[in-house]
Amino acid sequence: MRENGSGSGRHALRGQLLSYRADPFRHPVAECLMHETDGVIVIEAGRIASVGPASEILPALAENVPVTHYQNALITPGLIDCHVHYPQTEIIGAYGKQLIDWLKQYAFVAEQKFGNKEYAREVARAFLRESLRCGTTTSAVFCTVDPVSVDAFFEESRKLDMRNLAGKVLMDRNAPEALLDSVQSGYDQTRELIARWHGNGRSLYCVTPRFAPTSTPEQMEMAGAVWKEHPGTYLQSHVSETRKEIEWVKALYPGRKGYLDVYQHYGQLGERSILGHGTYLTEEEFQLLHDTGTAIAHCPTSNLFLGSGLFRIGQAVDSRRPVRVGLATDLGAGTNFSQLVTMNEAYKVAQLNDYSLSAHHAYYLATRGAAHALYLDDTIGSIEAGMEADLAVHDLSATPLLDYRLRYARNLDEVLFVLMTLGDDRSTCATYVAGKRVYASGREESPAYFSDSLRPRCQ
Ligand code: GUN
Ligand code: ZN
Repeated sequence: MRENGSGSGRHALRGQLLSYRADPFRHPVAECLMHETDGVIVIEAGRIASVGPASEILPALAENVPVTHYQNALITPGLIDCHVHYPQTEIIGAYGKQLIDWLKQYAFVAEQKFGNKEYAREVARAFLRESLRCGTTTSAVFCTVDPVSVDAFFEESRKLDMRNLAGKVLMDRNAPEALLDSVQSGYDQTRELIARWHGNGRSLYCVTPRFAPTSTPEQMEMAGAVWKEHPGTYLQSHVSETRKEIEWVKALYPGRKGYLDVYQHYGQLGERSILGHGTYLTEEEFQLLHDTGTAIAHCPTSNLFLGSGLFRIGQAVDSRRPVRVGLATDLGAGTNFSQLVTMNEAYKVAQLNDYSLSAHHAYYLATRGAAHALYLDDTIGSIEAGMEADLAVHDLSATPLLDYRLRYARNLDEVLFVLMTLGDDRSTCATYVAGKRVYASGREESPAYFSDSLRPRCQ
C-alpha cells in the first residue's frame, strides 16, 4: 500500500519540502536552505527517520510503508509561536484601547473566568484547534494567575502530544484583586505546576511573571529564584512594549537603569528566557540580551493593533551581537492565529523601518529561528532526521487568488513571499504532531483533533 497513511507506525509524506539548516541572518540563504521540489519524509515513532529527494528515498523504502502524497503543496516544519495568551482567545479584536487600558478593560476581565476549569478547558481546546488549523504545532503560552488554567491547558495539549510551553501568570500588584496571587502562593503554585507538567510528555514549564509592573520587587526576586531552582524550565514575560509602560516601570523601579535591567537584576535573563515585544529596546539592551542568551518574541500584529510601535528586527539580529528572535502572535492583542499572516505583518513593520524582510528570513523566524529562540532547535523547527515530526502542509491553491497569483511566481522566493502575503488558516492543508495527522482541511464538519482518517484537499 502506498497511499493515504499517517498512523502511528512507520509512514512517509511526499511533496515539496522547505526547511532551514542554519540562520539566514548570519549565513547566505543558499547555505541555509533545504528545498526539495519532490521530497519524502519518513516518519517513525513520532520522529523524522530520514528525509531526501523522492528519487533517493522511495526506492529504499519497504513496499508496505504508506506514503501520503501532497500535490501542489509545501511541507514545512510545524510553525512555532513564541508568545501567546490562550485565555485571551475570546477578546481578539477588542476595540479602541492601547496597552494599559486594553489590559484593564479587556484582558483582565476575560482572565478572571479561568478559575473555572471546565471553562478553561473549553477555551484551551478552541485555542489548540485554531493553532493546528494554522499549522502551528508549538507555542509559548501565558495562562492566567489561576493554576487550574495551566492544568486545563496542559491536559488538552497532552492529549494531542504537542510540544507546548506554558505557565501560570505571577501578579501580586496593579491588577484586579481576583487576579492577584502573593509571593508565597505564586512560589508554591509554580513549584507544584513544574512538578506536574515540566517534562510530562512533551510539555515544558515557563515561569511567568506577567511583566515588571504587575509584580512587586519581592515577587520578581522569587520568580528569578524559582526559575533557577528548576534547571531546564523556561521564563517568559514582556519588555519595552510601549513608551507609557516604560515610564511606568521607571517609576516603579527607580533604582534600576531601565526596563530590561529590572529583569537582569532579579535573575530573569538567560538561556530559555523569552521576552515579548522589545519595541523600544536600546542598543545597550540588545547587547545585554545577546550576552545573556535571552530571546525576544516579535509580535507584529499585536504591536500594530495596540499601536505600540515598530520592532527593529534588523537591529535585533545585527551580526556583531545577534539576539535570538522568534515570531509570535501575542493573541489576544495580536489579531490572527496564522503565522503566515504574522509574517506578512512582520514584513510591513520592517518596511516601515526601511528594512525588507525576505520570505526566507520570515519563514526562518517562525520555524528554526523560533526553535533557536526557545533553545529547542535540536528538537523541533526543521525537517531533519532525528527531529520530532511536527509538520505543516500548506496548500498552494487554497484560494482562487493564491492559485492565480502563484501562476506568475517565477521562483521559490516569490512563491514563499506570495504565500506569506496571501496565506492564512485557509492555506493549511494538514498538520502533523509527533508524526500523526491531527488536522486536515476541507472537512469543516469534522473534529479538528485526530482527523487521521480524513483526506485533506491537496492530498
Ligand atoms: N503586557 C502585560 N500583559 C500583557 C498582555 O496580556 N498582552 C500584551 N500585549 N502585553 C502585555
Ligand atoms: Zn503578551
